[in-house]
Amino acid sequence: MPQLSADAADAVDRYLVETLVGHDDDLDAAVAAQRVAGMPAIEVAPTGGKLLHLLARATGARRVLEVGTLGGYSTIWLARALPSTDSEARVVTIEAEPAHAAVARASIDRAGVGERVEIRVGRGADVLPTLVGAPPFDLVFIDADKESNTVYLDWAARLSRPGALVVVDNVVRSGRVADPDDDSAQVEGVRAGLAMLREDPRFDATAIQTLDAKGWDGIAVALVTGASPVEAG
Ligand code: DHB
Ligand code: MG
Repeated sequence: MPQLSADAADAVDRYLVETLVGHDDDLDAAVAAQRVAGMPAIEVAPTGGKLLHLLARATGARRVLEVGTLGGYSTIWLARALPSTDSEARVVTIEAEPAHAAVARASIDRAGVGERVEIRVGRGADVLPTLVGAPPFDLVFIDADKESNTVYLDWAARLSRPGALVVVDNVVRSGRVADPDDDSAQVEGVRAGLAMLREDPRFDATAIQTLDAKGWDGIAVALVTGASPVEAG
């Protein structure tokens, strides 16, 4: 039997990508544009991008919210999941860095889904309140500064319909989430988000760890229950 190692995990990831995900010029171009622009290589792995795409299709999502556009790689996967017959279907994606948003805009347009993607430039905590009153979201993908995960989860619950799915990226962080000696702000932010998913009646959630092209990490997947938040105090 093979033993778990970084090399073995890489080989499995390549095998799964070849077998089930395949290759795609527009997605490859989005990643290349991001690299040329000097942006960090922290977009989701191909297997993760396709998972987001399938979750969006499985939930019949016509409105998707993404917090953290980066170069638009996951955005393209999500936008391609929208029903082509629905001219109102949208991905609304929030990016704090204007330069990243510009790279994403070009890649999303090149992929042919530009009309279905609205990029809102600004910090999530500033942009999310401006979405109050918009039609509710069916799927939310949280993939931005981990320190703000509870803020993003609160807005995800407020802005989505009962039955919506919320996916949170990077909840394992090479195992650091379970390292009692790691009290960095990012890891504490991840833990606070997971604690919220457990305690807040608006969510019912699980998380899985992943070993993919981005190494050892994980995602949380939460159902928006439709319950009211418990008032503090
Ligand atoms: C980081 C952020 C991400 O969203 C990710 O997928 C991987 C790493 C980071 O900030 O280090
Ligand atoms: Mg991420």
